[in-house]
Amino acid sequence: MNDILHQLRCIGCGARIAGAEARPDFRCVACGELFDVEYPGWSQRGGKDRPNAGGLKWVLRERRSSSEALDQSGVWRFRELLPILDNYSNVVSLREGNTPLYHLTRSAKALKIDRLFVKHQGMNPTGSFKDTGMTAAISVAKEWGFECVACASTGNTSAAMAAYAARAGLKSLVLIPEGKIAWGKLSQAMDYGAVTCQLKSDFDGCLHLLSQIVKEAPIYLLNSVNPYRLEGQKTPAFEIAEAFDWSVPDHLIVPGGNLGNSSALGKGFREMVELGLVARMPRISVIQAAGANPLVRSFREHQAAVLEPVMAHTRATAIRIGNPASWRKAARAIQETGGWCLDVTESEIAIAKAEIGAEGLGCEPASAVTLAGLKKLRAEGKVSSSDTVVLMLTGHTLKDADYTIDFHRGKLLGKEEIAGSEAEIAGLRRDALAVEATPASVLAALKGRAG
Ligand code: F0G
Repeated sequence: MNDILHQLRCIGCGARIAGAEARPDFRCVACGELFDVEYPGWSQRGGKDRPNAGGLKWVLRERRSSSEALDQSGVWRFRELLPILDNYSNVVSLREGNTPLYHLTRSAKALKIDRLFVKHQGMNPTGSFKDTGMTAAISVAKEWGFECVACASTGNTSAAMAAYAARAGLKSLVLIPEGKIAWGKLSQAMDYGAVTCQLKSDFDGCLHLLSQIVKEAPIYLLNSVNPYRLEGQKTPAFEIAEAFDWSVPDHLIVPGGNLGNSSALGKGFREMVELGLVARMPRISVIQAAGANPLVRSFREHQAAVLEPVMAHTRATAIRIGNPASWRKAARAIQETGGWCLDVTESEIAIAKAEIGAEGLGCEPASAVTLAGLKKLRAEGKVSSSDTVVLMLTGHTLKDADYTIDFHRGKLLGKEEIAGSEAEIAGLRRDALAVEATPASVLAALKGRAG
């Protein structure tokens, strides 16, 4: 681990420690808060450890034509911006990152925002944004010589961890809430060979238990409390800036669960400003499901000074989290950029997901909160038609096929939930039809379907 270039700084009391001194649960001994990775050499203008903005942009352009594995990773091609390893031979990569930025054509028209884009992190190797963080933290685990890694998960973290651990030859342990994660994600953990424990608990309970386990056994914790995860997860911010030729969008809209992702993206943009790569940060807004909205409540009731855990309920199981670990970091990103934190209902999520599907992109339910949230921000006048907006789509549509099928068969939402949106939902549903095996019947089915 490169302790010369980086250190860990507690976000609560400001204590600074070397990476090697971190406790197994990554909590500060003095105040119990989490750490950020910090690069002391970056603050000295002209210092030899501070990346030079112009030089780095040139290097990044050159790396586009490189066939080196390190350069082909959308995380490690930015390695000067996450100098956490001693030796790059320890990098465990599945060629993560380099995800597409798509124009959301129909929604752009409907919302009258010409420049509306999605950064589709579901196009990563295991189908979610977790891969960018996992390549960073598993590489650290390998460099440190750990033999076993573990995470609590609503599904995607476990899928990513299991895959990267398998590539690194490490044993992996997954704790998941029984019956509360999508089958696609569970199947990945099994396929990649993790020891998968289903617990009669929720995500928050799984994480709490794991924090105790890692204090008793030499197991490396890979939840986003691990600050090295966030170093990888900040890199989509670099890709977005790069895609806009080192300018930044006006708004970045991110789903909120355990709140590591919004924290990481905030850090990525903040560091780019510090290093002179971009001139400003986008407004970062975090959207939660109404049944799992502790950060929204914290903003509403306590100006984000305190967070009271909630019992979480939402069909968007990826973000079914009531006691998010990284809430202080996420609140900071929202506050310093002038963004917002709001929640959306189950039917708003389902409608937005179907709309993203109808654009030929698709995403998992948790990702669709971003479009649902944007509609609200637009209606409230917080996003204008001339703004450039990027929605972070965090997971692939195939992660939770049951949700999609239930929606299109009209079995997902209850009557009360869809009250007032019946027509809108009916217009989006596309159930599979039972049709006679004759040309006439098939052609009749085709004719019967509008638009
Ligand atoms: N979207 C998806 C698809 C997710 O899997 C998650 C989190 C989030 C959004 C929220 O991101 O936690 O950084 O705020 N999934 C975690 C997991 C908790 O275990 O897979 P966050």
